[in-house]
Order: sequence, then C-alpha cells, then structure tokens
Amino acid sequence: MTDNGDFAALFTPFTLAGKRLRNRIAHASMTTLSTPEGKVTDRQIRYHANRAKGGAAMTVTEPLGTMRHQANLPRVQVWRQDDPDALKRLADAVEGQDCRLIGQIQDAGRGRHFPGRNPEAIGASALPDDLSWTVPRALTVDEIRGLIAEIAESASYLKASGFSGVEISGGHGHLFHQFLSPHSNRRDDDFGGSWDGRVRIVAELVAALRDACGADFIVGLKLPGDDGVPDSIGPAEAAEIADRLTVTRNVDYVCFAGGAHSRTLEMHTPDRHGAPMPYMGFIKDLQAALHGVPLMALGRITDPAEADGILARGEAQLIGMGRTLLADPAWPNKARAGRTWDIRYCLSCNTCWGTIVTQQIPVACVNNPCVAHDNEVDFKPELADNLKRVVVIGAGLAGMEAAWIAAARGHEVTVIGASDEVGGKARLRERLPGGETVSSVYDFQMVAAKRAGATLSLGRKATMEDVVALKPDRVILATGSRMIPPDWLPDGVRKEDWVPDLRAALLDILRIETRQPGAVVLYDTDHTEATYAAAEALAGRFARTVIVTPRDSVATDVPLVTRQGILRRLAEHRIEIVSLAEPRWSDRAAEGQLELVNIYNGDITMIEDLVLLTYATPRVPDDALAAPLRAAGIEVVLVGDARAPQEMLFATASGHAAGMVD
Ligand SMILES: Cc1cc2nc3c(=O)[nH]c(=O)nc-3n(C[C@H](O)[C@H](O)[C@H](O)COP(=O)(O)O)c2cc1C
Repeated sequence: MTDNGDFAALFTPFTLAGKRLRNRIAHASMTTLSTPEGKVTDRQIRYHANRAKGGAAMTVTEPLGTMRHQANLPRVQVWRQDDPDALKRLADAVEGQDCRLIGQIQDAGRGRHFPGRNPEAIGASALPDDLSWTVPRALTVDEIRGLIAEIAESASYLKASGFSGVEISGGHGHLFHQFLSPHSNRRDDDFGGSWDGRVRIVAELVAALRDACGADFIVGLKLPGDDGVPDSIGPAEAAEIADRLTVTRNVDYVCFAGGAHSRTLEMHTPDRHGAPMPYMGFIKDLQAALHGVPLMALGRITDPAEADGILARGEAQLIGMGRTLLADPAWPNKARAGRTWDIRYCLSCNTCWGTIVTQQIPVACVNNPCVAHDNEVDFKPELADNLKRVVVIGAGLAGMEAAWIAAARGHEVTVIGASDEVGGKARLRERLPGGETVSSVYDFQMVAAKRAGATLSLGRKATMEDVVALKPDRVILATGSRMIPPDWLPDGVRKEDWVPDLRAALLDILRIETRQPGAVVLYDTDHTEATYAAAEALAGRFARTVIVTPRDSVATDVPLVTRQGILRRLAEHRIEIVSLAEPRWSDRAAEGQLELVNIYNGDITMIEDLVLLTYATPRVPDDALAAPLRAAGIEVVLVGDARAPQEMLFATASGHAAGMVD
C-alpha cells in the first residue's frame, strides 16, 4: 500500500525469476549515449542509480555490447570481459537501492537512422533497410549460433557482475525483429520459412541464456506488437510469435512495442499528436498469447492513475516507462507519496530522441534540465552562499526555470512578465495541435517558483526605470526573440504588418471558427516542429494551405521520428508543399495573386486565391534591455531565446544554469 492508499496496484510488490520487485514500475531501455568509449561511465551509473533512487523497481539499461562485432559501437563492451569492477560499480549503484538491473541485448542489424549505408550490417536476408536502404550481409547458420553463444557468455558475465537479468530487444525493427518478420526474413533454412523458423533465433537465444545464467536470472523479451509495415507483423502475427516464444515459459516477462525501422519508426516513440497509451489496444489482446508469462505494458504511460488502472484491470502485471522516467526519475516516489502535482511530466515531444540520434549527445529532456546529475532525483538546489536580489524579465520557460531555481536557492526573486500568465510563447504552442502537454513545464515552474517565495509581477512590460527601482544585483533577461522578416518582403510592407509573422498571424487565426475560402501561404525557413503544428491549425481554418520553402524538403531540423509524423499529417491534411522556391513580392498580392519562384530554374507556381501570407523564419534575440542594464552597472545573464533562439530544450537548460549561478 502507498503512504496515502492511492495507486495500490502500482505499489504492490512482484517477483520475477525469484527476484523481488518492490513495485510494478520498470524503466524501459533508452539509449543514453553516455558511454562514448565503450566503457561504463559515472554519467551512466548516475543515470540508472537515479532511476533506482527515484523508486523504480527495475531499470533496463541502454543496449550493451554483448557481441564481438559490436566492438566499435559507443556502448559498454561486455563481451571483452575486461572491466568487471566497472560493471560491478554499475550493478551495485542500482541493486544497492533495491532496484533490479537488467542489461539490454540488441543489435540494429540492417537498421540505420543516419544518412548513408552501413557496410558492416548483418541481417536475416540481404534485403534493404526501409530507411537507409542498407543491404545487410545475411548471416550463415554457423554465424547465428556463434552470436547466440557470444551473447550467452556476455550475459553470464553480467550475472557475475551483479546484474539481475537481461532483456532481448526483439522489436523496433532491429536484428531480431528482422528475423521475426516475413517482410525482412526470406530465408529457407532453419531460421526462416515459417513462424517456427523465424522465431528460432530468439527461442534458441532464450534457451542459451537460461542455460548460461540459470533460473534465478531474469530474461525479458521485447517484441513487436504491431510494426505497421505491410505483410510484416500486426497484432495477429505478434500473437503467433509471442505464443511460440512463451510456450516453454522460459522467459520472465514480455513487453510489446510499436513500429519498425521504416516509415513507421514514429510508432516506437508515440508522440503527443496521438492518444495516450496507444499500445494498450494490442497489448490487452496479446496477453492471451503469453501462457501466463507476465506482461509489461509500455508506450506513453505518463500518469500514475493510468498506470495503476492498467494493473488494477489486469491488463498487464508490470508498467514500463522510458520517457516518463527520463523526465522525472522521482515519478515513483512522488506517486507513492501522493505528490502527483509535483511530477515533471513527459511532454512526449521526442526531443530526447533528437538528442541521441540527431545531435548525438547524451540523452536530455525539456522538462528535466538535470538528467544524470548527482542531485537529479527530486531536485532541490542548495542554498546559495551569497544571497542576492534577482530580477527575472520574462516569464516564459527559460525565465520561469531560472526564477524557481534562484528562489529555491534563497535569492530574493521578482519575475516581471509582459503577459498576464506565465509560459510565454509556449502558451501559443499549447493552443496548436499536439501542444496540450507543454503546460506541464510551466505549471510545474509556476508552483515551484511560488513555493520558493518568488514574486510574480505579471501583465507588465519591464522598463529600465522599473527594473532599476528594484535595485537588483542581477537581472536574468528572458525576453525571447522575434522572427526576421524575409528578404523578399519590401520594407514598406514589413512596416505596415500587412504580412505578419506566423506568431502574430496565429493570434487572429486561432479565433476563426468557420472554414474560410482561399489559400494561406506560409513561407518557412524555420523548419522546426511548431511551424508544422501551426500549418495544421491553418489547414483546419482555410480551404488551402501552402508551405513554401527554399530548402528541398520541410521539417529538416526535426528529429526523424517527429518528422515522420509531421510529413504524415501534412499529407493527411492535404497541405501543399512547394519546395526550392521563394515568393516574389508584387502589389498583385493584395488582389490574391502570388508568384512562387523556383530558386534554381525560375519556374513559377502561381497562387491565385491568396488570402493570407505569413512567414516562419529564424529568430533574433529580443535583448534590447541588456546593454542599458549593463551600463547601469547591473549584472545581466541572458537565457533562452534572448540569448540564442532555439528549441524548448535550450530554454529550460539555460534557465536552469542561470538559476544556479552563484
Ligand atoms: C530517446 C529514446 C531512446 C530509446 N532507446 C531504446 C533502446 O536503446 N532500446 C529499446 O529497446 N528501446 C529504446 N527506446 C524505446 C523505449 O524503450 C520505449 O519502448 C518507447 O520510448 C515507448 O515507451 P515510453 O512512451 O514510456 O517512452 C528508446 C526511446 C527513446 C525515446
């Protein structure tokens, strides 16, 4: 039972392979990119130890190097068996806090997110990856058995180092998934040709792991539940596979994931544009195929009541959460203590995926600026040595993050915000499709700032006189940014605001209730996610929406999983895209006629029914107060867009850093 009696199912202990789980919460495997040299790092240890400290009963690591051919990957090279102390340190840090540590076994096979082909790729058959078109070398039967032996040996080494178990990643379109699916496995030997043949590699691996590690070692299995690829694995085929792999009851738990390494990759990290818990539809039914093996529910489970409900209804026995526990490792402890209002919720924005795949930096989170820090769990900053009077100008995400932290450090903090509400431009994002979750960032910040004693002075545009009158020792300037009018727009038109930037245009457009005739043209050199959410909002209100960009495609600055969803929705809304083009301004625009000129060959696409022209462009900082404040002898720290216009990740990260300045 929990301290207050809530979420009783979630906090009921469980047993896997004879090992006690203190509750039903498991951290799902997430690539953390915290082991660049292939060795255990302090950052990796902190990442998992923090999830343990936050109350999870089990944490599954990022994929480990369990096979020799993975020698050059930035993952812990377990197969080398050359650093037992390091693995033991990782295991002790997690297991020592009553949390079971599970190492993930994974190989991408032919799957590749990056441009270019992978010449080293191995696979079931020599068929192209659906994203990178890498054609793998088909493994021989001897090689398959060799890989199984290598993995089993690595697993026994993990066991000796103190791990409680391993999880086989058989989903996400990776190597084992490629063997399981008739779409990618066209072998006619023992490892293909039928469901029995296609599951054989995983079945033999499970048996080998059990032989090597014994009955008291957890062996988990992540399987495709619905990969969304034609003639591959839908829920019916997932049931065939699950049935065969659990009939011996040799695995200890199963979880199901969506998507594959194809244009359905977006399904594997379901985002905020879809319903919460999107896998529950197939998960519930697949339970019947498991011969009583415990089922771990997974997929955009963010809320303790939802998680508890799944368990209470008997739809699963365990709850796996990846991004939810990235955003707030103390989610279990807070839920148990009845502090749900204090949770920093996952936005399902997939910024985290962008950090590891696009930016290739250690995993980071918009709503958790201190991932893997020492004091990450239930973060409370230490009191500052020198208490100061701090004025924060701007109550957006960057300013509010700085404000609550500075106040919690004991500084006397006043926030001056031009709007009546906190949240800044994030409020506008909230009103666009997929924006609902954004409020969890500023809702938390506002409560935290008030609790820490910050004074909020809202609905008031800061002037030099106002600020100087407050006698601040430090000003944190979080005044945001503005879009740069495009070069093709004549000065006179800019001044008259005849062609508004997208943010300004939206303020009016969002009030429109009935669909309008005519075309909206959105000129896009922004290429970030919010622009396309706005395009969806336009498409709901105008007969025709046309995006014009001088680049060869749209959404090029957005991580692939997010881009797939954007491209799909733009197509579903019949939003037209004119790429490699720029508008040519003329007075005929006022009569509804606009020329879009191809940047290479000058060909013209004519828009005849223009009713609105708007633009989303790179932004410049709104930092006009910085120089006069500095001239008045006041220390100024710039945060968020006022420092360097970027995404929300930078807003909260830079706000956090500014709040921590001594
Ligand atoms: C940044 C990121 C990295 C991930 N890395 C892995 C991985 O290495 N192995 C894996 O099996 N799943 C990985 N996943 C998928 C998660 O385990 C999980 O299946 C998915 O995110 C859905 O669960 P969630 O909504 O609780 O995050 C990753 C997901 C994200 C967002």
